[in-house]
Parts: sequence; structure tokens; C-alpha cells
Amino acid sequence: MNDLDISPMVQADGGTTTPGYMPGFGNDYETEALPGALPQGMNSPQKCNYGLYGEQLSGTAFTAPSHQNERTWCYRIRPSVKHSHRYQKIDLPYWKSAPHIAPDVTSLGQYRWDPVPHTDAPLTWLTGMRTMTTAGDVNTQVGMASHIYLVTQSMVDSYFYSADSELLVVPQEGRLRFCTELGIIDLEPKEIAILPRGLVYRVELLDGPARGFVCENYGQKFELPGRGPIGANCMANRRDFKAPVAAFEDREEPSTVTIKWCGQFHETRIGHSPLDVVAWHGNYAPVKYDMRNYCPIGAILFDHPDPSIFTVLTAPSSSPGTANIDFVLFRERWMTMENTFRPPWYHKNVMSEMMGNIYGQYDAKPQGFVAGGLSLHNMMLPHGPDRTAFEAASNADLKPEKLDNTMSFMFETRFPQHLTEFAGKEAPLQDDYIDCWANIEKKFDGTPDKKWGARRPQLSCRGIERPWSPETRPLEKKCHC
Ligand SMILES: [Fe+2]
Repeated sequence: MNDLDISPMVQADGGTTTPGYMPGFGNDYETEALPGALPQGMNSPQKCNYGLYGEQLSGTAFTAPSHQNERTWCYRIRPSVKHSHRYQKIDLPYWKSAPHIAPDVTSLGQYRWDPVPHTDAPLTWLTGMRTMTTAGDVNTQVGMASHIYLVTQSMVDSYFYSADSELLVVPQEGRLRFCTELGIIDLEPKEIAILPRGLVYRVELLDGPARGFVCENYGQKFELPGRGPIGANCMANRRDFKAPVAAFEDREEPSTVTIKWCGQFHETRIGHSPLDVVAWHGNYAPVKYDMRNYCPIGAILFDHPDPSIFTVLTAPSSSPGTANIDFVLFRERWMTMENTFRPPWYHKNVMSEMMGNIYGQYDAKPQGFVAGGLSLHNMMLPHGPDRTAFEAASNADLKPEKLDNTMSFMFETRFPQHLTEFAGKEAPLQDDYIDCWANIEKKFDGTPDKKWGARRPQLSCRGIERPWSPETRPLEKKCHC
């Protein structure tokens, strides 16, 4: 073989398949907004190029196990100590943190809310945050809060970070731009973003008023759930998470940085933008994810599996398998189960379930749970299909059916969720939600052989129709003909 037989390699031009973003979840990313700004082969050179300052942002303890250790090295115009001055407490009365137990609000109950409407009030990411529930304790870094945001104004010369939590953002209406220290994330409905603890950012409105949901995670970071026997693919795939490429601004304007710290808000005034990271490398970074890429796994013969099969992200607690928070997605999918009550079954759960509807119709509640709305089924409180859903599913012709036009989600936590005053008194609570189960009838009369639920006959191995019985369910290995 001589040199002429070697095909020239085609090299990427440095761009990425999604402009402005780098793929992967928890990757060791590296990115620079100016050539040569990122030191190579070391973190702390004696002098950084461009006169930048090197600084580490630690998302886990220095000594966290290697597979959990997260940190990012930033090369910035000023070190972060120049982005904070003296602090002054401020009040953001609608943003609450656990423990917050309102004495005259009853958290025990099954609750559902219509979408919180927009008003004429100018609301930013900070002033428009409305806490619905809190759980756990922000000071001991366990638990979470669920919020609705209503944004009608961009933040101008105003920045924010939460020392308390990472934020999982679920837009329902309108597009937002998160200008962060580590780059820009544009976010729209059907996408989610994770904003890590300690990351400084500004939120801008890209169009219209924006509404959505936030899960504030006080505990261990969100991670991808283990797939177990499912294998290496499906559910949320790592490549579909996108971290932003480096972007910075060199702006000398009087600015405000607001910090959420131990459930309280503090303000500090500085003379420039803190979004001044020119280059960075590491695995502690904001990401976004398009939920249209979520590949659902389901039952393909009979029965309705536990909703945990739709887990997108999980934030572990100290008890293995019992999450501080699971983020679960109910999206379009095929239903093919035979001889099965296909909607979610009746249920009592040690976990507390806050659900939100992004668009469309949820199969257990054909009416009442509308886009932008929320429902809460708190720890050990019964819930399940309403009568309409039960009767329809019990008598349906069980052909393969596509659940279309549906995207709901659940923030599920091991801790009971306590309603805020806003959730109990100001938000559009559906007072009659509990009545959705009122007209479920008693069918039992001691007779075993009525055609309860009009089950479909099963085919025997000779093709003869036989009435359903436990002995003829489809998975039986031996024929009982
Ligand atoms: Fe449930």
C-alpha cells in the first residue's frame, strides 16, 4: 500500500450537530468562546491567556466518589468574589422553601388546579415564581418544592443563583432564554432544563408571556435512572441532553445579583455582568433535553406497569430506590395490552405525586386535568380513574391504540408535600375535584359470573373463543383446552 491509497479523513469544522450545544449528560465538556482561552493539560496555569482568572465551581464535595464527582473549571474576566458585595435580605413572598407549613391550609387531600392565569403585573423569573408545595427541609438538603412560574418581563442587569437547589424547569407556554455563566440555553414547551446549584444566570422572555413548572431539588442531583434489564438504550438517552457552548459578556453596568440561600433571598450590587466565563471545562453544567426524544418502554402483552417505567430523571435519597424526586413523563405511546384495564389503576402511594399537564388529555382523567393545570395526590391518599375513565376502559375494544396528543409529567417525592397559602387560597383550586370519584358505583352483588367489564373472549389454541378466566390469560404456557 502506498500513500496514494489512503483516503483523506474528513474532519468536523469544530461545530456541533446542534449549533450552540454539546451533547451528553454528565459529560466532561470543554468549550471556549475565544481561541486559546481554555488551558490545555492543566487547570491552573501561572498566567491564563487573555488575563483570565481560573476558578473552580464544585457541584459535589471534593471527596465525592469519582463516578459522582462534579466540578467545572471556569476561565473568567473577573473571579466570582468580584460578583458579590455586601448582602441585603429581600422578600420574594411567593417563593417558599421547606419546611413551610401554613397553619390554616389543609395539605391532606386530593387536589387539582386549573392553570394559574396571567395578570397584567410585570413579573420576572424571580417575582413570578409561585410556590405550590414544599417537602423536606432546605437546610438539611433533603426534599423539594414545586412551583409555577409566570413570566412577563425579562431580567435586565439582574442575575440570580440558588445556593439551595438545582432547578428542573418544565415550560408549558412561551419560550425562555437562560443566559448563564456557562452559556445560553433557549427553552420551549416540550423541553426541560436543569440549572445546577450555584450557577449564575439571567432569564429573558423570547416571546409572549411564559408559564411553566419548576421542581426545586434541595437534595442530591438529578441523574439518569438505571435501566436494568432494559439495557443500554431507550428511555432518556444521554446524547439527547445538551449543554451550552461557552458564551460571555463584558458589560460594565450597575447590576444586581439575587441569591437564594437557606430559603431566604439576598441581594448584592455590583458594577458589571457576572456572566463573564470565556472558557470552561468540566462535568457540572446546565443542560436541556427535548422530551420528544424520550423513548417510552411499556407492557407489550398484558397489565399496566408501575409509572416508574417512564422515569426521565431521578434524584436519589439516602434510601436506595426511594427517590428524593423522580421526574416522570407520560407522553404519546401505543397501548397494546390484552385483557387489561389500561389506564393507571386505583392506587395509594407512600410517595407524593405532583402532576402537571403540558398539553393534551391524560388517560386517567379525560376531563378536568387541563393543559397548564396541576394535581396533587399526597402521601397515602387514594386516587385513580374517574368513573368515565373506568367505564370506558373496562368496556373498550382492546385494539392496539395510540395515545396521542398527551404530555403530562410527575414530580414524585418520598416526602409529603405541604401546600402553600398561594396553592390553598389564591391559585384556581378545583373545589369539586374530590367529587370525580363520587359516582363510581358498587357493582358487587355476590354473583361471580356476570360479564364484569365485558371482557373480550380469548382464543384457544384451536382458535375457539373461550370466555376470559384467570386460567386463560395470554401468558399461560400450557393450553387448558
Ligand atoms: Fe399514583
